[in-house]
Amino acid sequence: MRKKIAAGNWKMNMTLEEGKKLAGEICDMISKRPLKTMKANPGVIFFTPFIHLVEISKIIRGLEGVYVGAQNCYSKPSGAYTGEVSAPMIRSAGATHVLIGHSERRNLFDEHNKMLAAKASIAIENGLKVVFCCGESLGERENKKHFDVVEQQLKEGLFWMDEESFSNIIIAYEPVWAIGTGITATPVQAGEMHTLIRKLISEKFGEKIAENCTILYGGSCNSKNAQELFQQKNVDGGLIGGASLKAGDFFKIIQSF
Ligand code: 13P
Repeated sequence: MRKKIAAGNWKMNMTLEEGKKLAGEICDMISKRPLKTMKANPGVIFFTPFIHLVEISKIIRGLEGVYVGAQNCYSKPSGAYTGEVSAPMIRSAGATHVLIGHSERRNLFDEHNKMLAAKASIAIENGLKVVFCCGESLGERENKKHFDVVEQQLKEGLFWMDEESFSNIIIAYEPVWAIGTGITATPVQAGEMHTLIRKLISEKFGEKIAENCTILYGGSCNSKNAQELFQQKNVDGGLIGGASLKAGDFFKIIQSF
């Protein structure tokens, strides 16, 4: 059965001290109400800035189902790439997951599908699980291109892999127009895109792999709308920005399955 997941993307927020406090508060709540006592037994991932990884990894240690991930990695394992951070470094910091292809990386830092495919590949080679983001812009949706855009992102970013590599992929559908805007995709809009994504995975890798793949929704998901979104058949949880920065709100989201 596929895993339900609530993941927080902290983006470029939180000093190290603030991040430790936030993760500590959420982990306290989880120790009092362990994830495995919740009906869905969800996983929780904190996607923190690079410099937080070591410390947050220490804070989550011993808590079952709680993981730490980076928000990006470079496409090469090591070398003269000043300012970049590699997958082996991320792994050595205690992280188990990495976000690849967030729309902020695609749009602000010109990351295209070919580069993202290389990043996903190196991340998996180094033992990381990849949360691969896809999603259309407002213009693309208004022009009814949203299904085509997401299909192309998946095909170029992921569908070159073999089945074993793909088993390390979690997908996050994040419509760009919903990110940080307070506008959430309706449960129907999210549901139909997630259903398409699972169908595409099934066509490429077979039904069993498609059924086991976790597909998250992201974009103004919060403690009030999470439950309705997570009830959609093919929505397996959320990738949460703003609402993951408040311990109480994020814990409510974790309990929304
Ligand atoms: P918000 O939840 O702040 O809209 O951000 C979503 C997101 O980009 C998560 O990766």
